[in-house]
Amino acid sequence: MENVALVTGCSSGIGLETAVALAREGHFTFATMRNLKKAETLEKIVKDENLPISILELDVDNKESMDNAIEKIMEQKGRIDTLVNNAGWGMWGTVEDVSIDEFKEQFETNFFSIVRMIQKIAPIMRKQKSGSIVNVSSVAGRIGFPVSPAYISSKFALEGLSECLRFELSPFGINVITIEPGVIKTNFFDSMKMAKKSDSNSVYNDITSKVISGVKMMAEMGTEPKEVANAILKSINDKNPLPRYIVGNDAMMFLEAKKMKTDIEFENYIKKELYGE
Ligand SMILES: NC(=O)c1ccc[n+]([C@@H]2O[C@H](COP(=O)([O-])OP(=O)(O)OC[C@H]3O[C@@H](n4cnc5c(N)ncnc54)[C@H](OP(=O)(O)O)[C@@H]3O)[C@@H](O)[C@H]2O)c1
Repeated sequence: MENVALVTGCSSGIGLETAVALAREGHFTFATMRNLKKAETLEKIVKDENLPISILELDVDNKESMDNAIEKIMEQKGRIDTLVNNAGWGMWGTVEDVSIDEFKEQFETNFFSIVRMIQKIAPIMRKQKSGSIVNVSSVAGRIGFPVSPAYISSKFALEGLSECLRFELSPFGINVITIEPGVIKTNFFDSMKMAKKSDSNSVYNDITSKVISGVKMMAEMGTEPKEVANAILKSINDKNPLPRYIVGNDAMMFLEAKKMKTDIEFENYIKKELYGE
């Protein structure tokens, strides 16, 4: 039987590479994005390689858009075997500088949209008695550092959600997998929003600029998004998938350090690595 996949956030980066990798392996892939005007790069690859990809509109912040996309997929294929919750973005700004509305906006895309997708698609997978739900988290879902608490908290929340969900869905034959990339070379850092209060008048101006330039330097040496796509493919092909797949040497290094060091040693290590203190 044909495997059907749904990937969110396929206009660029990890989502685009994942849709292409899944389709190259023969999965019929619904590559979704909120703005179809950004489909040109993917359309060209689909045409050049004659890939089994259908591009659909899906803004994960919009319930109606989500319902419409899932309805179209069910009408066309009648099943969903793989769901990759990839769409996401980040926000700079310290806890004091990010307003509650900005925290909510960040959580809406990076966390609540994923809960909504799962609540719509888990019943379909339960009926099939099979499926894989892949949540694209981040090394920032396991490590805190200053100046992006909204983003980091949303990914920590996603890690918690995924851990709970594995227990709940495994009796129905559904695998839940978390992907933890380090710094990946995509549009992500250029698309990051800045909290409104995070301007030159902020008392956190100094640490904000230090962290942003530290992360941007790391981004220049980042891992290619293809590697994340390959990890996602491996995770769904594994007979007994692991709870989490780490991608990138930087992510490995940070998570290994977290395991080996005491909490205080780890804090000092992060300060040194990230902004040289
Ligand atoms: N790059 C990294 O270093 C890194 C590291 C760890 C984890 N991640 C995670 O990887 C995922 C993909 O990011 P990326 O690195 O590939 O960055 P990217 O190239 O900026 O891609 C982000 C994708 O998410 C989409 N998106 C954002 N809000 C959306 C919404 N409301 N509805 C539908 N799509 C939406 C974007 O669409 P538009 O083009 O319309 O904005 C874009 O397609 C994110 O969840 C991110 O947190 C990235």
